[in-house]
Amino acid sequence: MRVGLTYDLESDYLAQGFSAEAAAEFDRPDTIDALEAAVRALGHTTDRIGHVRALAARLVAGDRWDLVFNIAEGVHGIGREAQVPCLLDAWGIPYTFSEPLVLALTLHKGMTKRVVRSAGVPTPDFAEVEDVDELGAVSLPLPIFAKPIAEGSGKGIGATSLVRRQEDLAPTVADLLLRFRQPVLLETFLSGREFTVGILGTGRAAEAVGVMEVKLLPTATGGGYGFTNKKDYQNRVTYAFPRPADDPMAAEAAAVALGAWKALGCRDAGRIDVRADAAGRVEFIECNPLAGLHPTISDLPILCAEHGLDFPALVARIVASAARRHGL
Ligand SMILES: Nc1ncnc2c1ncn2[C@@H]1O[C@H](COP(=O)(O)OP(=O)(O)OP(=O)(O)O)[C@@H](O)[C@H]1O
Ligand SMILES: [Mg+2]
Repeated sequence: MRVGLTYDLESDYLAQGFSAEAAAEFDRPDTIDALEAAVRALGHTTDRIGHVRALAARLVAGDRWDLVFNIAEGVHGIGREAQVPCLLDAWGIPYTFSEPLVLALTLHKGMTKRVVRSAGVPTPDFAEVEDVDELGAVSLPLPIFAKPIAEGSGKGIGATSLVRRQEDLAPTVADLLLRFRQPVLLETFLSGREFTVGILGTGRAAEAVGVMEVKLLPTATGGGYGFTNKKDYQNRVTYAFPRPADDPMAAEAAAVALGAWKALGCRDAGRIDVRADAAGRVEFIECNPLAGLHPTISDLPILCAEHGLDFPALVARIVASAARRHGL
C-alpha cells in the first residue's frame, strides 16, 4: 500500500513561536522517523504529508493514498483532532484510529464523562465552569481536582490542580480560565492508585494489552501526573506493570478502560487513564484515542514493549486493525 503520514511536528510550532507547553502535544521528528520505518518494514511505501493544511493542499492537488496513518492533533478549535479525518472522509480515503465524532468528543473531557457514565462506566462527579461567578452553584465535596476541559499532555495540570481548601478554588479556576481560555472541569479528587491502560483493536476485537501504574514520587508536584511531572518523569514518577491476573485493582482498571473504549467507539489503538477513588473503586479519567507514539518516551509504546510488543509490532497491529476495518 501507499501509506500517507499525517502529523504535527513540534519543531514547526516552536518555530512559529509556540511556547514549550503549548507545543508539548506535537510530534518530535524521531517519532515520525520511527513510524515511517515501521510502516516501510511492513512492505508499504510511505509519503510524509504533515499537518492538516498540507493535507488539504495535497488533496486539492489530486494526491491520494491507500491508507493514511494519522497522528495529527491539529491546533485550532475543539474539533482540531477531527480535522484530518474529516478531510480524509470527504475524499473517501481510509485512515488509522478513530473517526471525527470520537476525536472531537474525547477532546472535551466533560462531554466524554457524560457519555461513558451513561454507558455505566464509573467516573467522578464533576462540574464545568466558565466563570468564577458560577462556583457558588458547585456542590462538589473537597478535595477537588481542577483542569482545563479540553487539553492533553498534562497541560494546565500542576501544583494548584489539587484543591483542598474552599478558599483556593476561585484563584485556581481564575488562573486556569485566564491561561487556557476555555471552561474548567472540576472533579472529585481520586486519591487512590493511578493506571493508564493500553488498548488495541476496535469494537468486539478490542483488548487491553497491558496496565501501567503511575506512581508519583514525593518530588512530584500537585497530586497529578501533569505537565511538570511528565516532563521530569525520571525524577518525579516511577512506573509499575501490575499483572491483572495477580492484582485485582489492575484487572478492574483494564475492565473499566475497555468498557470506556467500547462505549466511546474508539478504534485501532489508544490509552485510557483511570484512577481509584478513596474507597478503592477504579474510575475513568480520560480517553486518548490519538495516544503519543514516540517509541521510547510515550506511554502506549512503553506499555506495549513491556508486554512483548515492540514498536514495529505495535505499528503493525494498528495498520492491520485499520486495514481490516476498511477491507484493505
Ligand atoms: N479527578 C482526578 N482525581 C485525581 N487525579 C486526577 C483527576 N483528574 C486528573 N488527575 C491527574 O492528572 C493527570 C492528568 O489528567 P488528564 O489525564 O485528564 O490530563 P491530560 O493532560 O489529558 O493527560 P495526557 O497526558 O494523558 O493527555 C492524571 O493522569 C491524574 O494523575
Ligand atoms: Mg491523561
